[in-house]
Parts: sequence; structure tokens; C-alpha cells
Amino acid sequence: MGKSKEEFQMDNLLEKHGVSSQLTEYFLIDTPDKEAKLDYRLVFGNNNPVVMEIGSGRGELIYQLSKLNPKVNYLGVELSAKRIVTMLKRFDPNVNSNIRLIKAKVDSGFLSCFPHRGLAQAIILHPDPWPKRRHHKKRLINEVFIECLANLIINDGEVYVSTDHRSYAEAILKCFNQHDKYSPVYSDGYRRVPFWDELPTYFEQKMKKEGYTPYYMRYVVLSGKEDS
Ligand SMILES: C[S@@+](CC[C@H](N)C(=O)[O-])C[C@H]1O[C@@H](n2cnc3c(N)ncnc32)[C@H](O)[C@@H]1O
Repeated sequence: MGKSKEEFQMDNLLEKHGVSSQLTEYFLIDTPDKEAKLDYRLVFGNNNPVVMEIGSGRGELIYQLSKLNPKVNYLGVELSAKRIVTMLKRFDPNVNSNIRLIKAKVDSGFLSCFPHRGLAQAIILHPDPWPKRRHHKKRLINEVFIECLANLIINDGEVYVSTDHRSYAEAILKCFNQHDKYSPVYSDGYRRVPFWDELPTYFEQKMKKEGYTPYYMRYVVLSGKEDS
């Protein structure tokens, strides 16, 4: 089958920015097959725990975490081709050998391409808030999404979510608090202190400058009935 328009755009961007095919081949993997599911062991070449970051942006967080935790694998998923290229220019196979990237739009369908209970953590920092009411349906985090996400995370694994947008934070808290597979780590469901204060992402820094104090929500995934 020929290349899609998106694939052509991606190839053009990679060429324009002089990203070598070695880098692309090392870090970038295809969206997995729904039937086969992604084999983490095959992708990373080891059995280390896997953390998925959804909407990695410019990749600051996984770049730093991958260096701090070499025995953890990081899978960054990002919609924007431009940001994938930014990450490919930043990452080095000798420094970030435990990172892989997928260019994709994450939704519950995308999550169905991953094995049941295979992730140690999922991190979603500052997902697009879609502030207009008529756009709320475009928000990433909703009941169906967090149900699918819970199925991908190991027992006692965790989900980290942050947003600076109050109404989105309220909607996220409601979703997680109503779900019996998640238990909040923070007593109010959130805190106003960054998870990794010493590792600010681009958006984290931008918001700080603009005077925002985001909401940080963290949940433990409980064992499901089918696991007990
Ligand atoms: C506001 S930025 C935050 C980036 C990064 N997490 C940070 O804190 O700096 C949101 C990012 O999520 C990406 N994004 C938005 N919707 C997405 C989706 N459905 N799947 C994957 N990435 C998505 C955007 O392209 C953008 O890079």
C-alpha cells in the first residue's frame, strides 16, 4: 500500500530538519496492530516496566526521566509531526535508549492496540483543554477513555494527569472519582504542586510565567474483578 498524506508530510519534515533515518528507525515505531497488540519486550528488548506518556509535546519529561530511570522504558505518543521531529532531534540512542515514540492520535480505539495490564504508568501532562463547551467532546479524558486506560495498567500502577484548566480539572476528577478501578493518591483528588518540580516541561514553564497553578491528579489502578 502507498504512503498516506500524513506519512508524506512526516517524511518531508524529517528531511527538512535533517533527521537521520537511523534516529527515526531507532525511536519511531508504527501504531500497533489491534489484533496483535504491541509487544513491549520486542520493542524495548527487555522486560523492564513501561511508562506511556500521552501527548509528549517537545519530550522534555521523557528525555529527563529516561536518563534518571534507565531500567524503565518510556513510550511517548504524540499527535503532532512537528513535535515528533523536535523529539527526534533531542533524543540520542546512547542517552535515551529506553525511549520509543509513536506518532498517533490517542483515543480509546488507539488504546485497544496495547496489551492488557502491561503498563506500569500512564502520564498525561496538560492535555488540550478544549475550553469551549461545544468542543468538550474532543477532550481526551472521559469515562470511556479512562476505562480503556485502566485495562492497560498493571495492578497498583498509576496514572498521572495535570491541567491548568479548572473546568477540565473538575471533569477529570469527576471521571476518575466515579470509576471503581481508580483510587486517588491525594486526599482531595489533586494537589497544586508539580509531580516533578525539578523537571518542568515547556508548558509547565509557560504556565508558571503566565501565573497559572495547575491541578495535579494521581490515581492508583486497582485490581479488576477479572484479576482477583
Ligand atoms: C498542551 S500540550 C502539552 C505537551 C506536554 N505534555 C507538556 O506538558 O509540555 C498537548 C500535547 O498533546 C498533543 N496531543 C493533543 N491531543 C492528542 C492526542 N489525542 N493524542 C496524542 N497527542 C495529542 C499535542 O500535539 C501537544 O503536543
